[in-house]
Amino acid sequence: MEMIREYADWFYLIGAVLFILTLRGLSGPKTAIQGNRYGMIAMAIAVLTTFFVADNPVVWMIVGAMVAGAVVGIARARTVPMTQMPETVALMHSLVGLAAVLIAIAAIIHNNKLIELGPDLLAANGVNFHEMSRVHLFELFVGCFVGAITFTASVFAYGKLAAKKWAKTISGAWVKPVQAIIFIAMLVFGFMFFSTGNMTAFWAMTALALVFGWVWIAPVGGGDMPVVVSLLNSFSGWAAAGIGFTLENNMLIVAGSLVGSSGAILSYIMCKAMNRSIINVLFGGAMGGTAAPTAGAGEQVQRNHRSGSADDAGFLMSNADSVVIVPGYGMAQGRAQNAVKELANILKEQGVTVRFAIHPVAGRMPGHMNVLLAEADVPYEDILEMDEINSDFPATDVVLVIGANDVVNPAAKDDPTSPIYGMPILEAHKARTIMVIKRSMATGYAGLDNDLFYNDKTMMIFGDAKKVVEDMTKAINGTGH
Ligand code: TAP
Repeated sequence: MEMIREYADWFYLIGAVLFILTLRGLSGPKTAIQGNRYGMIAMAIAVLTTFFVADNPVVWMIVGAMVAGAVVGIARARTVPMTQMPETVALMHSLVGLAAVLIAIAAIIHNNKLIELGPDLLAANGVNFHEMSRVHLFELFVGCFVGAITFTASVFAYGKLAAKKWAKTISGAWVKPVQAIIFIAMLVFGFMFFSTGNMTAFWAMTALALVFGWVWIAPVGGGDMPVVVSLLNSFSGWAAAGIGFTLENNMLIVAGSLVGSSGAILSYIMCKAMNRSIINVLFGGAMGGTAAPTAGAGEQVQRNHRSGSADDAGFLMSNADSVVIVPGYGMAQGRAQNAVKELANILKEQGVTVRFAIHPVAGRMPGHMNVLLAEADVPYEDILEMDEINSDFPATDVVLVIGANDVVNPAAKDDPTSPIYGMPILEAHKARTIMVIKRSMATGYAGLDNDLFYNDKTMMIFGDAKKVVEDMTKAINGTGH
């Protein structure tokens, strides 16, 4: 135990390096499992070292909390379906925010209690006490309000993603002024606390930060919640780093900063792939399901599309040299990933080259398609990112779009009036033949019509993704070469 105390900083350094290796590992599917292992080891080192360096730890409380947390965590991890992952992540961020607030409150109450006892009594009992410095108060102030905002904002994001009744989107001209008033009042009280140590100001700041977290995120549309969750991930990291300064725990500072910066980078990548700015997501009001389709109900433009059967499509694909599969939200919604893997296998057996093309924001959460395809055991080398595959589309015989819409909408490239103009897309329209599986001609997340569906080279195959893909496989099985 003495040894751990003595070498604590070295253990923390090893933990920090392992956390960096974790992030590196998580950046690619092939190395992700190893990355997770690094993360687990780093976390174990961090927790154990902190446990041993703590002054007078209340062992039963710490062990009790860890066991309770582990039981809930393992149970949830074992049962959560992939589709509920975003809201689970939001809920976890809310706990990081709450922890930051509680630690800040505990640190302040502890400090005040010691001041109350007085330096003489403390010295007589061998307690070495220094009053909290300005810098410490500032760290607490930042850690506490960022944590409080993260807490309520994440609870709202969870409610929204889980379609809870209480998580209602708010709108109206009053929203922005109210947000601004609460935010400024929160800063004013925070500054009062920082400069005078006044406890009433501290409680007021914390309460306002809790309210602000809610009114800040409540106007954001449900479809934008994944970006918000990633941003809150970043916030939870910064709150943890702030608290790390308070507790003088280097590990928490490093880990918090890593989470903070990686969450911020992920939010930026998501926004870029959606051709939106973070300001637009956070303050632009609801998008996702609310955007008007290009052809409104009153002025329905009748356009022709070609539709075909799963049998026709199966026959065409089994005679192709190369097929690129573009999965989208509909594959996730229809839980078709295993059926898709089966189809890819059958085609490969027929000598067809089959690859998967992944758009960075296909689906509804970062890495959504990668996770589903990995779950179905699709080999990593068959899965290509947008930049890797886009130049191959013109030489591709068949592109099979499965429940994707916005991520293959050519308007993003050709139509400067389109709201998604400028968003990078998978250039499926350049392939020789395009097949699209979806249930209807309905729009996708952005609420926009898609020219790809009316292209002369496109065949629509209507139906639920899983059923259609299974029918295709059956058809190919029956056909053979
Ligand atoms: P979308 O554009 O949302 O289109 C999905 C299509 O799947 C729909 O048009 C729907 O048409 C079809 N579909 C739904 N359920 C189906 C089922 N069971 N079987 C077959 N088809 C089904 O999806 P996308 O192309 O993946 O694009 C993602 C969108 O979400 C982008 O606009 C992106 O900006 C946005 N977004 C993504 C993220 C992340 S991080 N991935 C975060 C926020 C927003 P039918 O109803 O006709 O079947």
